[in-house]
Amino acid sequence: MNGTASPSLTMPMLSRSLLACCAALALALAGCNAGTPSAATDSDVRAAEARRPQDAQLAAKYERSCLLCHGVRSGAPLVGFEPAWKQRVAQGEGVLLAHVRDGLNAMPAMGLCTDCSDAELRQLIDFVIRGQ
Ligand code: HEC
Repeated sequence: MNGTASPSLTMPMLSRSLLACCAALALALAGCNAGTPSAATDSDVRAAEARRPQDAQLAAKYERSCLLCHGVRSGAPLVGFEPAWKQRVAQGEGVLLAHVRDGLNAMPAMGLCTDCSDAELRQLIDFVIRGQ
């Protein structure tokens, strides 16, 4: 009779369909990941590496601090790479400054620029976000 499958048939069928489901989900997630706009390409990274603040003094401070992480491919958001900054910018300037001053997870306090004033940190924060 139809509709009364024995347990020995149902279980393998169930686990097969679960497997198929998981595989489909994994593929969908992988697909999403590949298309995510926050993945910087090599040319994004090359462009970031070349960026410097216009002011020479600020550029010198950038080169010996922020650049080491933000100007290369690393765990840090890439300088001038908009997708990496969108959500962070939404926190507001005050929070960003506090995070740079005090450090945040892998970012050391002052972003390693121990002789930067708050004004300079603000300028550098603006620079790493906008890339100019
Ligand atoms: C040793 C590596 C390193 C250095 C040097 C560094 N950063 Fe960072 N920075 C990071 C990492 C990693 C994050 C992401 C932290 C997180 O969200 O977990 C980050 C995050 C930030 C953020 C976002 C903070 C937030 O609230 O989301 C700003 C702004 C920032 N850095 C600015 C700077 C500036 C300006 C400098 C130079 C004065 C600098 N960083 C130097 C590694 C670094």
